[in-house]
Amino acid sequence: MGNVQTYAQVGSTNDIVAEWAAGGAPDLSLALADEQTHGRGRAGRRWYSPAGTALAFSILLRPTEEEKHQPFSKFSGLGALAVATALEALYALSPEIKWPNDILLGGRKTAGVLVETAWSGAEPEHIIIGIGINVLPGAVPPPELLRFPATCIVAETPQPVERPALLRQVLEALLAWRETLPDPNFILEWEQRLAFRERPVTLDLGSGGSLHGEIAGLTSEGALNFRCVDGSLRAFPVGELSLRPVRD
Ligand code: BTN
Repeated sequence: MGNVQTYAQVGSTNDIVAEWAAGGAPDLSLALADEQTHGRGRAGRRWYSPAGTALAFSILLRPTEEEKHQPFSKFSGLGALAVATALEALYALSPEIKWPNDILLGGRKTAGVLVETAWSGAEPEHIIIGIGINVLPGAVPPPELLRFPATCIVAETPQPVERPALLRQVLEALLAWRETLPDPNFILEWEQRLAFRERPVTLDLGSGGSLHGEIAGLTSEGALNFRCVDGSLRAFPVGELSLRPVRD
């Protein structure tokens, strides 16, 4: 690891690591917080982070020359695969990934990943992967803040859940998956865990528009391969898109 700091309370661990990155912090610097007062989610949303209930941390990647040329979407998959496989290994759970990187247990959101990048021209200069995992029921947002049904790990497993052990497992998984980014198997492993495969979904396009169709899978670059209702396939790289199932 690089610098490692734990905090009782911060605004957002992604912001802490962004400051460190600007000051030259090394690869794998990690900020971990018990509570975030301004936790951030994707698409400018708030991430609910009360004290003592969750894992909230951010890790800095200084991409190698090889990583700089990896499709950017893969770094989103990296965080998701790390969390999913940690939950599989520790608690024998069967998480699904709501593309690009929400972790679902029993169809409910349990963890989210926020990837923020500083670009130097067309190349990533640094990448911050922020991960929030609902561990205890107190981490689940109240209904008025929920966009998608949510749960927490202890509600899904009878096994005891220790936050330090979970953090360690996620970090080990992240380091291991990072080594395999160029390998086609990386995309296959991400794809195998996709939620709502071949089921009717709505893809919210961020700009207010939406598309109906089905998830066909992932492209070799980690973009969503989306089958529109007219049968045509369209690829969507990770951006401000979000998916929801069409309820029967
Ligand atoms: C999402 O699902 O919208 C992404 C949520 C990411 C939350 C984590 S918690 C640690 C890090 N710090 C933040 O402010 N956000 C990420």
